[in-house]
Amino acid sequence: MSVGYVPVQWNRHKRIYDAVLAMAVASYLAVFILVGKSAFRGPHAISDPILVMRALATCAFLMLHVVLCIGPLARLDRRFAPLLYNRRHLGVATFLVGLLHATLAIGFYHGFGRLNPFVSLLGSNTNYTTLSAFPFQVLGLGALIILFLMAATSHDFWLKNLGARAWKRLHMLVYAAYALLVMHVALGALQTQRGVWAASLAGLGVATVATLHLYAGWRERRRDRRGAAMLADGDTQWIDAGPAGDIPNNRARVLCASGGERIAVFRYGERVSAMANVCAHQGGPLGEGKIIDGCVTCPWHGWQYRPADGQSPPPFTEKVSTYRVRVRDGRVQVDPRPLPPGTPVEPAVVADEVVTTNTSAAEVAQPIGVACNVTEPAHVAVQHA
Ligand code: HEM
Ligand code: FES
Repeated sequence: MSVGYVPVQWNRHKRIYDAVLAMAVASYLAVFILVGKSAFRGPHAISDPILVMRALATCAFLMLHVVLCIGPLARLDRRFAPLLYNRRHLGVATFLVGLLHATLAIGFYHGFGRLNPFVSLLGSNTNYTTLSAFPFQVLGLGALIILFLMAATSHDFWLKNLGARAWKRLHMLVYAAYALLVMHVALGALQTQRGVWAASLAGLGVATVATLHLYAGWRERRRDRRGAAMLADGDTQWIDAGPAGDIPNNRARVLCASGGERIAVFRYGERVSAMANVCAHQGGPLGEGKIIDGCVTCPWHGWQYRPADGQSPPPFTEKVSTYRVRVRDGRVQVDPRPLPPGTPVEPAVVADEVVTTNTSAAEVAQPIGVACNVTEPAHVAVQHA
């Protein structure tokens, strides 16, 4: 989390993730080049630099699709959540592969004349008013600059320095980079004989990314609109979170308060606590995480919070808002007014029968709360990207 600047710390998970990523990229490039060489022979043979340039280009473009699809997939099905961990490494790798493609393209198409390759790139084609001869390379350059900015600020150090809001805005530019690249491919393809299939593949990619985002957003809005029943009790309006037994042990049910903010209600053994659903790191959905070693663990990069006070365990200092909770007739009720981040709230206690019918003995015996294990939680150890 935020204990000063710490360089990237490699743990076993990061090493495995990056090794798999490097192998996948190398395999893709090898297969693309081998298939390209055997499919195009004789007079149709493609020169090696162009084949490598295309292999790198399609690889980077594919990787960007994966980066963009992981978010909605994880929102639709939490089995995809582990892919979110280290998504930034995938983003940085996408930039590096795109950079290699661009370097080769600039060297090959603009490197042999009298002009500086960059001057040639920006000045040799100024047909900005025609589609069929549009200088599509400039769109690739725009996308590359955005990917560079994102890769350069991907470390948590920059998240802290820029502030979560500015950092998030900067990283939302990935969609602008994506739009530029779709046009880079489409307008570039218009200028080659491979126009139809290249444009169709790009279209399929756009349709996949758009459908996943729209579907995940629609599902969330529908869940929020369904809302939860409000119960008036004196001055307090409590939200009914349903039967305590319906919340799986060490997991949460997510409620939407009338103002739109989401509240994650966790049950752990016979206790129930509620906290804001938004992680203090990059806004990950805490309610989609689980309690590991007594701490609510964000599904995105594993930041942890104690369920009873929303505070990260020492030495970390992050906090999220907590909410008052009670149990009435076996149903969990939440006061939707957020308490200041890190405010301790006595967990509500659930009747024994709920615990015994929905929780295994081993789960109940698990230590809860005060001393979260921050040295090596189950799936993440080091929080710095
Ligand atoms: C300065 C930046 C860039 C330049 C000058 C550039 C240049 C080019 C050129 C000349 C081509 C046509 C290659 C050919 O078919 O002969 C191309 C295609 C392509 N580029 Fe770029 N590019 C840049 C950045 C990027 C980036 C950052 C990405 C992806 C992350 C990308 C993805 C693609 C893709 C997917 C194709 C189509 C490949 C194919 O048709 O097989 N480009 N680019
Ligand atoms: S968003 Fe990164 S750990 Fe929660």
